[in-house]
Amino acid sequence: MRILVAGGAGFIGSNFIRYILDVYQDAEILNYDKLTYSGNLDNLKDIEKNKNYRFVQADIADKTKVEAVVQEFQPDYIISFAAETHVDRSIHVGAKEFIDTNIIGVFNILEAVKNSKGVKNYVQVSTDEVYGSLDLDSQEKFEEDTAFAPNVPYAATKAGGDLLCRAYFRTFEVPVVVTHCSNNYGPYQYPEKLIPFFILRMIENKKLPLYGDGKNVRDWIYVLDHCSALESCLFKGKPGEVYNIGADNEMQNIEIAKLILNYFDRDESWLEYVSDRPGHDRRYSVDSSKIRRELGWRLKYEFKETFKQTIDWYLENKNWVENVREKTGVFNPHIDLWEKHQPKG
Ligand SMILES: NC(=O)c1ccc[n+]([C@@H]2O[C@H](COP(=O)([O-])OP(=O)(O)OC[C@H]3O[C@@H](n4cnc5c(N)ncnc54)[C@H](O)[C@@H]3O)[C@@H](O)[C@H]2O)c1
Repeated sequence: MRILVAGGAGFIGSNFIRYILDVYQDAEILNYDKLTYSGNLDNLKDIEKNKNYRFVQADIADKTKVEAVVQEFQPDYIISFAAETHVDRSIHVGAKEFIDTNIIGVFNILEAVKNSKGVKNYVQVSTDEVYGSLDLDSQEKFEEDTAFAPNVPYAATKAGGDLLCRAYFRTFEVPVVVTHCSNNYGPYQYPEKLIPFFILRMIENKKLPLYGDGKNVRDWIYVLDHCSALESCLFKGKPGEVYNIGADNEMQNIEIAKLILNYFDRDESWLEYVSDRPGHDRRYSVDSSKIRRELGWRLKYEFKETFKQTIDWYLENKNWVENVREKTGVFNPHIDLWEKHQPKG
C-alpha cells in the first residue's frame, strides 16, 4: 500500500506518518514537503531510517513536479496536509503564498489524481475555519452542509481548495474526500500557534498575550484523534464526501491560558490583553456525528491528560524548540510587531 503524504514534515502530517507506520506494517510512505518555515524534518527523526519511508523536498505549487512524483510513485492513496496555515501570517505578512499553496497546490494534486487513474482516494485536509464564525451564546455547530463564510485570507484560501475538490469530483469523478477539523494540540506543533506559543512564553518568563477579551471559543482536539479520523477517511471515506472532525471540547482562549498558567504555578497577572486580531472568529464548534455514524470513528484521548502531556513534551524537548528558533527566528509576526510597539519600562 503506497501513500503519498504531502506536507508530512509539519505538525499534523508528521504525527500522521508516525501513526500510519505504526499501525500498517505494509504501508510505504512518500513524504512530499517543501519545508517552509513550519516544515521540519526533526519532527520525523525517529523514523527517517524506516525502510518504508522516503522524503522528497518539493512544492505542491509546482505542477510538473507533482505530476512526475505521482507518476513515479504510483500511490494508492494521497493525503495532503501541505498548506500555509497561520492566520496571523495571512493577515500581517500577506496572502500570496496562501493562494499558491492552498489553492494552486490543491489544483495540481487534483490534476495529477485525475491523470493517474490508480489513486483510490485523496484526502484533502482542511479546517472548520472555512465555515466562519458562530455566536458565543448560540448552540449551533458546523455541519457538513453549513455554507462557507471565511473571514480571514487563510480560511478563504482553504475554502478555495475545498471547492476545487468538490468540483473535480462532480465534473471528473476524481476520488477526493475533504475533511474539516477543529483546532489541534499535541507534540511537534510550530510554536506560533496558541498552545505551544503560550507554553514557550511561560518558559521565557513572558506574559501571555490574549487577543481581545480572550473569550473566543475553539473546539480543541488531540492531534492523534485527528490522525485516526483521517485514517478512517482515507481508507473508508466515500469519494465526493465531506467529513467534519471535532472533539466536542469547546474552550475559551482564556481558559486555555489559565490552564497553562496553572501548570507553571503563575497567577493571572501573567495575562496581557492585546488588541484583537482583525476578522477574529468568535466561536467554532464542529458536529462530527457524520464521521462517527458512517465511518465508525471514535475519540480515544482525554483532554486533561493529553493537554498536560503536551506541555510536558515541550519542556522535555527543549532542543527541538531551540532548533526551530534557530532556523526560523520569529514565531508569531503579529505579537512580534505588537511587542515592538509597547511603551518601554
Ligand atoms: N493545526 C490545526 O489546528 C489544524 C486544524 C484543522 C486543519 N488543519 C489543516 O491541517 C493541515 C496541516 O496543518 P499543520 O498544523 O500540520 O500545519 P503546519 O504549518 O505545521 O505544516 C504544514 C506543512 O506543509 C508544508 N508545506 C507548506 N507549503 C507547501 C507546499 N507548497 N508544498 C509542499 N509542502 C508545503 C510545510 O513545509 C509543512 O511541513 C493544513 O492543511 C491545515 O489547514 C490544521
